[in-house]
Amino acid sequence: MHHFAYRGGVLHAEDVSLDAIASEVGTPFYCYSTATLTRHYKVFAEAFSSADALVCYSIKANSNIAVLKTLGNLGSGMDVVSEGELRRARAAGVAPEKIVFSGVGKTRDEMTYALKEGIYAFNVESEAELAALNDVACQAGVSARVAYRVNPDIDPKTHKKISTGKAEDKFGVPYDRARGLYREAANLPGINPCGIHMHIGSQITKLEPFGDAFALLRELAGQLMQDGLTLEFINFGGGLGVPYKADDPVPPHPDEYAAIVLAAAKDLNVKLLFEPGRMIAANAGILVTRVLYTKTGAAQSFTIVDAAMNDLIRPTLYEAWHDIIPVEERLVDTPGHLTDVVGPVCETGDYLALARKLPDYSSGDLMAILTAGAYGAAQSSTYNTRPLIPEVLVNGADYGVIRPRPSYDEMLGRDTLPDWL
Ligand code: LLP
Repeated sequence: MHHFAYRGGVLHAEDVSLDAIASEVGTPFYCYSTATLTRHYKVFAEAFSSADALVCYSIKANSNIAVLKTLGNLGSGMDVVSEGELRRARAAGVAPEKIVFSGVGKTRDEMTYALKEGIYAFNVESEAELAALNDVACQAGVSARVAYRVNPDIDPKTHKKISTGKAEDKFGVPYDRARGLYREAANLPGINPCGIHMHIGSQITKLEPFGDAFALLRELAGQLMQDGLTLEFINFGGGLGVPYKADDPVPPHPDEYAAIVLAAAKDLNVKLLFEPGRMIAANAGILVTRVLYTKTGAAQSFTIVDAAMNDLIRPTLYEAWHDIIPVEERLVDTPGHLTDVVGPVCETGDYLALARKLPDYSSGDLMAILTAGAYGAAQSSTYNTRPLIPEVLVNGADYGVIRPRPSYDEMLGRDTLPDWL
């Protein structure tokens, strides 16, 4: 579900023509829809309206402060993985008691900052990290609210680079040792072990791995309560997948997901936390790029566009598919042909689509790469000294540039010369 559609022959984001935005901000650019962000947040949050639940949007998916503020205004909390993301959440006005901090490698400085801010909880991923957090908290004279992230050794049946819940993945503490680790944690003066956390992976399109994981969460929660622990919350992580291809099977609806969560949490009397990222942001964003040239190689047709792997790395990093449609609807009816959509970066891996049947584009035509709102801009880089591309947020008939394209002076001005040069 999203709010990008043709009107009068031109692709619009809500009520704004993408052609008009392209003329004003130049290409390539990311464009996000407030209506889609809002709808996705609400569908997810409403699935848990019967429970004491806190949705902590996972900032890593799309960390633009305007996006965060849009979600924060709807009541969303945030899941952060660095001091930078925590600062973004705070800059967007999100209350610290709605923020959780995940990640295998938090530094002591980051812990100190998060404790000072007064976040809701840390998701802790190892005994060594817990010991460091205990030190930092004791020094600060406070007690850190903690959930151990438990690794259940479950295959989430997703791309190997985004699976996080298998025994060989770097994440969390082994399920079998968790009970003992909580006993030890309870003896640390700077630690309040009051929650459990699990996140088994991303772009999960079946309910089964979630069901298996949540059954284990329930079992562990029961054991910890038996051991006398005051369990305040269970954090079910994120991971709900989205459709990337028009003919992909539809991933589970948040209501179906909620049904298995609520069954797992039944009668436990704890607050339920969630960390959805992709499910909120992916279909709320597109990448608009202009065709520079077309060429026919010895073996292949190429459509060379002004966006590249540094702007959207998902196709080459995860063999990810993103649907591509023209901004001008008339192109949809051209005969079309198989083509690689490639960018200007000097790598063979620089592509947005391979051997894709697309309409016949010419130089100057605009194309929209769909489902690019999550892990698009957030994973972009300046490789080849290409400026980070602008981000635009549409809201009805209004739009605003929420991150302008930097100038070359700004980019080059960040380098400094040592005194011998
Ligand atoms: N919570 C934790 C602890 C996570 O590590 C992640 C994602 C999430 C929540 C949010 O997961 P989501 O609901 O978005 O699936 N760059 C990759 C995805 C990496 C996901 C990393 N962790 C991609 O573009 O597919």
